[in-house]
Amino acid sequence: MFKMFDHQAASLAIRERGLTLGNPLHWSKQTTSTNEDAALAANAGAAHGTLFLAEEQTHGRGRLGRRWLSAPGTSLLFSLVLRPTMPPERLSSISLAIGLAVADSVGTVVDNSRVGLKWPNDILIGEKKTAGILIEGALVSGRCEYVVVGIGLNVLQRTFDPSIQARATSLILEANKKPSRHRMLIELLHRIEERVQAFDVDGLRSMKDDLDARDVTRGCHVRLGNAYGLAEGIDEDGRLRVRVGGEVRFFHAGEVQIVAA
Ligand code: BTN
Repeated sequence: MFKMFDHQAASLAIRERGLTLGNPLHWSKQTTSTNEDAALAANAGAAHGTLFLAEEQTHGRGRLGRRWLSAPGTSLLFSLVLRPTMPPERLSSISLAIGLAVADSVGTVVDNSRVGLKWPNDILIGEKKTAGILIEGALVSGRCEYVVVGIGLNVLQRTFDPSIQARATSLILEANKKPSRHRMLIELLHRIEERVQAFDVDGLRSMKDDLDARDVTRGCHVRLGNAYGLAEGIDEDGRLRVRVGGEVRFFHAGEVQIVAA
């Protein structure tokens, strides 16, 4: 048995703080995927900021068609409905702004200097992953109707599925005091709200230094698909800049593997 997340207390704290994100909050003990719940609600007209949070997902989705595995009651598993006003071509890099918000939040409970962002949106503590972000959206007639931001943050896990055990970590394994899912959720919503507002104004422009500081691939040799080269940072469009031989290439998406520092 695990201690259930107190969603009523969280909902109250969100309203008391005047946060837009997380209001309303829909909690469930078990669902297929909070991203699926949020997309269904968004299609039915759910407002900007609507939050779906679950103790357990039976079909948690990760990037690139992978599964997101998490034992019940150990993580923060949630999805937000956003209704951004910016042009759709700008939206592809919003995941990096959200990645920064998640990294900054994680950095409040573990040694901040060990928290990194692995492009495009894995949050690492040291070399191990503690959170992932899955962004899904709907374009209608060239306009972005909504974006669903799904976040899985490992908080209380002490062990993981054998398939990810070597590469995964959690806040409880890394922090010097027991982390609270309630406090982390409020921290995350507050920081995501700030980053999304800043992103709305000038995209990643004002976040360039923060991205450089968190980017764990910068200055490392990386493999991305068939390409192998030196990662030179993330640009204002959210692309990873990689020097491959004499040529500089820009990647929009993919899975980057650090080969050598
Ligand atoms: C990744 O790193 O591959 C992204 C993982 C995103 C997982 C979260 S958990 C909450 C939300 N619901 C899902 O089905 N996926 C996201």
